[in-house]
Amino acid sequence: MATESYVLNVLEVIEETADAKSVVFEVPTDLQEAFAYTPGQFLTVAVPSDQTGLAARCYSLSSSPHSGRHQITVKRTADGYASNWICDHLKAGDTLRLLPPSGIFTPKDLNADLLLWGGGSGITPVISIARTALEKGSGKVVLFYANRDETSVIFADELRGLVAEHPDRFTVVHWLESVQGLPTGEGIKLFASYFADYTSFCCGPPPFMKAVATALKELDIPRERRHQEKFVSLGGNPFGEVEEVLAFQAKLAEVDDADEPEDAGPTVTAPVSLEVELDGQHYAFDDWDGTQVLLEFLESKGVDAPFSCREGNCSSCACIVLEGDLAMKHNDVLDADDLADGIRLTCQALPKTEVLKISYNG
Ligand code: FES
Repeated sequence: MATESYVLNVLEVIEETADAKSVVFEVPTDLQEAFAYTPGQFLTVAVPSDQTGLAARCYSLSSSPHSGRHQITVKRTADGYASNWICDHLKAGDTLRLLPPSGIFTPKDLNADLLLWGGGSGITPVISIARTALEKGSGKVVLFYANRDETSVIFADELRGLVAEHPDRFTVVHWLESVQGLPTGEGIKLFASYFADYTSFCCGPPPFMKAVATALKELDIPRERRHQEKFVSLGGNPFGEVEEVLAFQAKLAEVDDADEPEDAGPTVTAPVSLEVELDGQHYAFDDWDGTQVLLEFLESKGVDAPFSCREGNCSSCACIVLEGDLAMKHNDVLDADDLADGIRLTCQALPKTEVLKISYNG
């Protein structure tokens, strides 16, 4: 089963830099609720593909919710089929199939002091957070923004404008590799040390995110004030049997068959006593026998649990284990800290204990 997808009109395609474009979608009134989002969330886009019917990709919303816009920003990558297709072909008036906003890279408190880290196109969720916090919150916002050179800086004008509007609250530090070289771990740590009581949000290329994560850990910034957004390509199809896919179903089935399930380790098959907190609701079940992953079990019970990729790639389905433990068949997105904090992907989760309590409320 896939979550419901929607075909939306493209209102505008904006050239941000030579290799990055923003795409603005028109969300009709009856879909405003489904497409409501918090800053830092992403949309899953179905890019047409001759090979598979569609290629699913997650792109962060670079707009802020209070603007009423739904805008993603996409930067070409050398071998990136979807990013190149969007940059080369998409234009105003076209349509694209989308899944509603998702993701957990979003501040709980917009009034907190925020230390934002953007590497290249990693600025997209970060600028959404900055815009929203400056407009709706009251804390200070510091952005460390690393780019290859001046021409690759996305949103340079907007950032200048936001600094001019909020001179006492917003500081942007640009780091250009062409001028300063790559930022070093020591340099990042020194910079972060001035803002040790801020809450960090970091998105960018893996080496940049790793350097920031290491620096923040070495500074003993507590886990709840360190957030990272990682994107990996979605290999499968979270859109279900939509028109574009039906023609390629047989081929997709072959690919699925070829995917060897990973070993989740020892799991429990006795009926599990399960309690779930989701959106202020409390559910209790006593008949999960581990033959389905947790997300599917909850869906079979009519629970509207969140998800996107269903492949362990995106973290949309993440929950926190409050009691007991869950094993995962596959995990491309949670790191050791996340796991130590009890975060698990329900689309991959099987029971490890006979009593379980989980929460989606973070
Ligand atoms: Fe993407 Fe579970 S739905 S990781």
